[in-house]
Parts: sequence; C-alpha cells; structure tokens
Amino acid sequence: MTEDDRIVTGEAKDDAESSVEQSLRPSSLATYIGQSALKRELSVYIRAAKKREEALDHVLLYGPPGLGKTTLAMIIASEMQVGIKTTSGPAIEKTGDLVALLNELQPGDVLFIDEIHRLPKVVEEMLYSAMEDFYIDIVVGQGPTAHPVHFPLPPFTLIGATTRAGLLSAPLRDRFGIVGHMAYYNTDELEEIVMRSARILNSPIQEEGAHEIARRSRGTPRIANRLLKRIRDFAEVSDQHDSIDRPIVQQALKMLQVDEDGLDQTDLKLLRTMIRFYNGGPVGLNTLAANIGEETDTVAEMYEPFLLQKGFIKRTARGRMVTPLAYEHLGISPEHN
Ligand code: ADE
Repeated sequence: MTEDDRIVTGEAKDDAESSVEQSLRPSSLATYIGQSALKRELSVYIRAAKKREEALDHVLLYGPPGLGKTTLAMIIASEMQVGIKTTSGPAIEKTGDLVALLNELQPGDVLFIDEIHRLPKVVEEMLYSAMEDFYIDIVVGQGPTAHPVHFPLPPFTLIGATTRAGLLSAPLRDRFGIVGHMAYYNTDELEEIVMRSARILNSPIQEEGAHEIARRSRGTPRIANRLLKRIRDFAEVSDQHDSIDRPIVQQALKMLQVDEDGLDQTDLKLLRTMIRFYNGGPVGLNTLAANIGEETDTVAEMYEPFLLQKGFIKRTARGRMVTPLAYEHLGISPEHN
C-alpha cells in the first residue's frame, strides 16, 4: 500500500472479501433497505441541491458500527453524481494529509471521513474554515521565511461518520447542516436484506431461514450478512439442505455460539461478569471492559448499545447495571448469585 492509499482508504483490505462485501452494498437510495426517515430526508436535500446546482450541505452520520454509514455516504455521492474520496480519522495524521485530500476534490465532490471523532485536533481545526467558507490557510516555508497562504477550495460535501457522536467537539458538530442518526434495523428490514444478499450470492434460502438470521443479527446488516455467509458454507457442505432453511440456521448458529436473541459469547461474558463479580452492578465501563479483556471503546460502541436497546442493561449515574430481564435470559435467579 502506498502512502497515498493509506490516507485515502485508511486500511488494507483483502481484495476477494471486499469485492463480495462491495457486491452486497446497495448502490442507490431506492435499493437501500431501512432507515426510512433518514432516506426520505436525504432524498429531499439531494434533489434540492441538484436543482440549485450546489454541493450538498455537510452530512454527519452517527450510530453503532455495521449499520451502513459508509454505504449511505457512497449512495449520496452516487445520487449527487459526484466523485467521492474515502478516508478515516486515524488515517489523517497531519494537516498535510488533509491538504492532499482537499486538493484533489472537484467541485461538488464528497469527502467521506469515517471515525471522524478520531481526527487529530490540528486537522479538525483546519476543517472548520474548509467546511464553512471553502478555504484553508496553510503555512508555507520554515523559520523566518514561513508565511501563511490562503488556499481556496471548490465547494464540496464533507460526510463524517461516527459511532460516538458525543465525542465530537461542538465546533465540528455544529458545522454539519444535515445530521442523520442511524438506528438499529428491525427484523423485517433485516430479513429483506438477507433475502437480497442471498439472491446476490446465488444462495437458495427460505423465508423462515432468512427470518431466523434476521432475528439474531443484533439489528445490524453487517452481522446479518456475515452470518448468512457462514450459514451458506454450512448448508453447502451438508447433504440434507439444498437451501438455507430454519433448521440449518439453528444448527449453524449453535456452532457459531450465537444465542436465541443474537447475543454472542462476549455479550454473555459481559452480563455474567456484571452478575458474578459486581452483584449486577453498578459498574463502570472501563472496569467492565478490563474484566472481560476487551477495549473500552469496543464495549462502548458495539456491546453496550445493543444490550441497552435489548433492555438487558441500564445506565445509571454510578455505572451500568443488569436488569431483571438479563437474569431471566441467563436463567439466573437475582437472589442466588
Ligand atoms: N446490505 C447491507 N445493508 C443494506 C441495506 N441497508 N439495504 C440493502 N442491502 C444492504
């Protein structure tokens, strides 16, 4: 990977896997399933911007990982019929990296910054004038010859994605004219996504099988598609199943250690740790993460929002607590632990 690739893509991707991933991504608002309120809104703003022949206002997409923020950014660029440059907060290490990206933008283009809450402060500050008035001031030369140069930019659309809207500074957040919250998908939407993905993967599936995958995918298309691919492997090597039906999904998910409600081993470990070692809580996120051997960010971004949404934990001023529903799910009596 060249230095430019590092900044532009932010990560190295396995080509075979990424082309499958790519093919499962919808490429238009019309084929994007779910997030209907946000889609309706975006469709209006996109049509209005195109009619005025202006760049779309800057867009901030926030919500848990795997819900389709990157996909939506690509769709926005495609619907606006403009180019898109994709990068991520941690990949832009210095202001020079940002200047290089901005310098390549054509009028109306989209600059997509994933994990925008992880931008270095100096880079973030350079974005303020870029977003608001389409210019940056850069210092050219060193020592006594150093002087500021005013560098105008073409009008462009910044699309920022974050799993942690709360970590964004107010000045940056305030510069996004369009703020979209990505919500967990419901089972019907995920079932539709699984049916669509199975069709693209040429993998026969029954509606009941798709429903079972959808129900256990933690409201997350990325998880639904990942489970579908693993279950397809399972079905293909099994003699009895020429299509993915409910029994094969149940067998495969048992092997994958995904429980009836879609909780994986980490979710269960987290709940059991809270019960066994902290009497059900309250316990702080850092303590909990250290106890189960996960990064605090991973727990905060992936596990906690799902368990909160399921009603298995709740947040209090003193930390996280498990709910009676979690005890019931685990088959543990609240009095006997
Ligand atoms: N694949 C992954 N996410 C999707 C979505 N929201 N709509 C359609 N297909 C998808």
